[in-house]
Amino acid sequence: MTMPFARPIGLFDSGVGGVSIWRQIRALMPHEHTLYLADSRNAPYGQKSREEILALSLKNTEYLLERGAKIIVLACNTATTNAVKELRARYAVPFIGIEPAIKPAALQSKTCKVGVLATAGTINSALFAQTASNFRNIRFIEQIGHGLVPLIEAGQMESPAMEALLQEYLQPMIAADIDHLVLGCTHYPFLSAQIRRILPPHIDIIDSGAAVARQTRAVLQQHGLLADATQEGQALFYTNADETVLRTLVGGDGSVMRADF
Ligand code: DGL
Repeated sequence: MTMPFARPIGLFDSGVGGVSIWRQIRALMPHEHTLYLADSRNAPYGQKSREEILALSLKNTEYLLERGAKIIVLACNTATTNAVKELRARYAVPFIGIEPAIKPAALQSKTCKVGVLATAGTINSALFAQTASNFRNIRFIEQIGHGLVPLIEAGQMESPAMEALLQEYLQPMIAADIDHLVLGCTHYPFLSAQIRRILPPHIDIIDSGAAVARQTRAVLQQHGLLADATQEGQALFYTNADETVLRTLVGGDGSVMRADF
């Protein structure tokens, strides 16, 4: 009963952001081993071309597959919107992607105005345009979060620079009467407290983490790949840059190592 059930769930992100997704997966499936790649040396992905994002996603996928990943979670909206189709066509393992949660926000919105904060790579992708076009009654106020990911990667969540950027990005959305704000980048849940302080209380903040965790469990179940419930899940995190911020975000919940990928 060691294989394939002992194989890990592989996750990758351009950096530390996908830890927000890993937390949800961990909470839902504590028996699963997980292996997380933080490609922080190449962050941010959001301003790269589609070809570059695809090449980095292939590199990360190969690294996880070489280490036995049974499923791959793209804990990155930018990688999903630009590369998930090609990855699914190329590899046999299942892939779980993440997209901005505009559907639940659009369905719940009463003002019919929804704010979306995401990277340029996500907002400018064909997949995002296609999903948004399903909700023609909703006005999406889209804002590229220029500069947010580098500050998070540097551990500067609570800094005057972060406060200034968030004010600049969120005040126009408040003025436009949004009642939901979609966090369309896996780094941004680490800014929830700062964002909450700026938004009036009636504006809901939505991200996709819990839905991605449920989808991962459902797909593992479909493929007969769920871990043995007697197993205690081990969590390994690899980063190709300085480990400090990743260590802080993971806390005592896993082992963080420097790796060359
Ligand atoms: N955390 C990623 C996302 O969800 C990527 C951010 C970036 O590297 O620009 O989009």
